[in-house]
Amino acid sequence: MIQKCKHILLSLLVCLLYPIALVAAPLKQQEQIIPIETNDIGLYLYVNKKGEVYQQHFGKRIKDKENVLRISKITSFPAIIGRQAYSTFGTGNVNEVALQAKHADGNLTSVLVYENHSSRELSANITETTLTLKDSYYPFYVTLKYKAYQKENVLDCSVSIWHEESAPVVLQANASNYLFINAQQYWFTHFYGAATSEMKIIEEKLNNGIKTIESKKGVRASQTEHPSFIVSLNQPAQEESGEVIMGSLAWNNNYQLRFQVDNHNNLHILSGMNDFMSDYYLKPHTRFETPSLILTYSDSGKGQAGRNIHHWARNYGIRDGNTIRPVVLNSWEGVYFSCDEENILAMIDDAASLGAEVFVLDDGWFGNTYDRNWAQGSLGDWQVNREKFPRGLQPLIDRAHQQGIKFGLWVEPEMVNPKSELADNHPEWLVTGKNREILLGRNQLILDMTNPEVANFVYQSVAKQLTDYPNIAYIKWDANRHMMNFGSNYLDDNEQSNFWYDYAKALQGVYSRLALDFPKVIFQACASGGGRSDYGTLQYHHEFWASDNTDPRSRIFINWGYSHLFPANAIASHVSHSPNHQTGNITPIKFRFDVSMSQRLGIELQPNKLTEKELDWTKKAVAAYKNFREVVQFGDLYRLISPYENDRAALMYVDEAQDKAILFVYVLEYHYGSQYALIKMTGLDPNKKYKLKEILPIITEPDKFGLGGGKEKLAFRGNGQVFTGDFLMNHGIEITHRYTNESAVIEIQAIK
Ligand code: DGJ
Repeated sequence: MIQKCKHILLSLLVCLLYPIALVAAPLKQQEQIIPIETNDIGLYLYVNKKGEVYQQHFGKRIKDKENVLRISKITSFPAIIGRQAYSTFGTGNVNEVALQAKHADGNLTSVLVYENHSSRELSANITETTLTLKDSYYPFYVTLKYKAYQKENVLDCSVSIWHEESAPVVLQANASNYLFINAQQYWFTHFYGAATSEMKIIEEKLNNGIKTIESKKGVRASQTEHPSFIVSLNQPAQEESGEVIMGSLAWNNNYQLRFQVDNHNNLHILSGMNDFMSDYYLKPHTRFETPSLILTYSDSGKGQAGRNIHHWARNYGIRDGNTIRPVVLNSWEGVYFSCDEENILAMIDDAASLGAEVFVLDDGWFGNTYDRNWAQGSLGDWQVNREKFPRGLQPLIDRAHQQGIKFGLWVEPEMVNPKSELADNHPEWLVTGKNREILLGRNQLILDMTNPEVANFVYQSVAKQLTDYPNIAYIKWDANRHMMNFGSNYLDDNEQSNFWYDYAKALQGVYSRLALDFPKVIFQACASGGGRSDYGTLQYHHEFWASDNTDPRSRIFINWGYSHLFPANAIASHVSHSPNHQTGNITPIKFRFDVSMSQRLGIELQPNKLTEKELDWTKKAVAAYKNFREVVQFGDLYRLISPYENDRAALMYVDEAQDKAILFVYVLEYHYGSQYALIKMTGLDPNKKYKLKEILPIITEPDKFGLGGGKEKLAFRGNGQVFTGDFLMNHGIEITHRYTNESAVIEIQAIK
């Protein structure tokens, strides 16, 4: 009884404090459609007379909005509940919902109605539409934000939440986007893997129930399960045909993508931060900004959907996306932790003579009190190791400049080894579970970025190197463990679950400060390989290290996965030693280069261990790559033969003018039989004539194949000949290489 009275009193108090709260949304709204459109695609929201907002259509753009307005009258909609623009519990919807909030008075339900909307042009290419919904009772607001990129056919969808209630509202679920789809069948592709086997493609049919893809690893969102998806309607996803929805969450922390097929066979897609231990205590008048979902639709298959995202990424999603990425030589697989002035100076000389444009000094260069000859100590102590580099880094940078190349440096600034001066001095900065055993990963812990002092230290760790050595041109930012438990000395005890969001926002803040203060420095995102290959990270980085597995046989698959979401200039792909250090596979140098050249080429080995022949090949391959890299890095990607279903793989890039293309073919298994299937090209102009030239063909060993040594073994018998685009796309060419680990690169140049 006392409880009940208390409740009534509280409600009265809330009413007195918030008279506006009692005024529900206008009783009668004007019915309207809110179109969110690009050149070819559209998402249409519908406001009914009660102010409820629903999704009418997502897919190809529909010209006549009046037709869209009538959807609710000509289908079983809105009888089927769960089609809200932003779904909540408490409206009759019993499917997965976008928002769960515990209001200041303990009410767990939310009912959102139309408040206002507006649309403005951010540029000739970007239209931003915001739609604000308000709880029908509480002063609690949700703004759905959509940036529509016209040319790229991409939507950036995010949500902003705030309130004026009397105490914090606890956000228990807060999706970035909720999509309602209605089709006969749903085929779902996601990308799964592990460190050294990232981005394996899995496609499965969605049946009734909920499929969840998520990460709870905190600082590494994309290592095992990538925050991206493809949903193909009515059939498995095809490269160049069929309806496909593709999305990628721009977030480098815990996330959750949920796909629910309900009892009416509708698909509900919810993308956003993970609800896991993440109740967010949102204070009044503070904004909670969800990450963006980058979303596209194509009726020409996943190839076109990917190209939409690639275009968007180069123009908006990655830093300086329309600039050529240089060829990098990284020291890691060459010397690992055993770097010193002598061997690094020699490596810089070698890097330059091979044609590399940036030399990157990887792990092992820092720390004086504790040992850094393996990953056991010194993380956090960002001072140059005096024994290895008695004169500091300047002589290395000077040497790089004398050789005409740039110098880059590896850092891992959010991390700390217990054996470090930093951990000795600031035990309160470490993320650990209170009263729990410390759980180490690679002998290290994570710094508590929710603490602004710590975030500033992280910023300074990098800024100091870039200020002490203003000629450092490239930073590789690593993160070699994930969260296994958590606990912050900075956050209040009852707000510990704010940790994930606050950490991610603080890290973004540091990234963005560095990008502003050091705009010319190239940043590479790395987290034990591809753990930070997400668009949340990439808006502050130029590229990502795709995997610690540098075996070209593995990389064909890993890069194939990445190519669905990322343009080639963002994917760092390095040629390393054979036998490969991760897999032990032995592969020819041509094969290794041909694989890496289909992305952002780099080198990751000790040049002084290469034979003369390998050195010679390396120089030629780097030079050849520089000639055609513009097509790879800026061109349109067409995946022609998937390694998943075949004993070889083929892909090509075509420039915007359809004047230049480059074809890569890789033989994965020995092909038994006399003839390979023809490779039909895509993306060329059928009316243009193209000359085909094989780049760096194999040079035969003496007497092998009965050809005598030192001769070119061509993969295409029509090398040097001219063909029409029509012929190349509709008949195709035969590539005759059939031995395991053979490969071919063919340049396709339009001629007058
Ligand atoms: C993991 C990265 O993925 C490697 O490339 C290398 O930088 C090591 N960390 C260094 O510790």
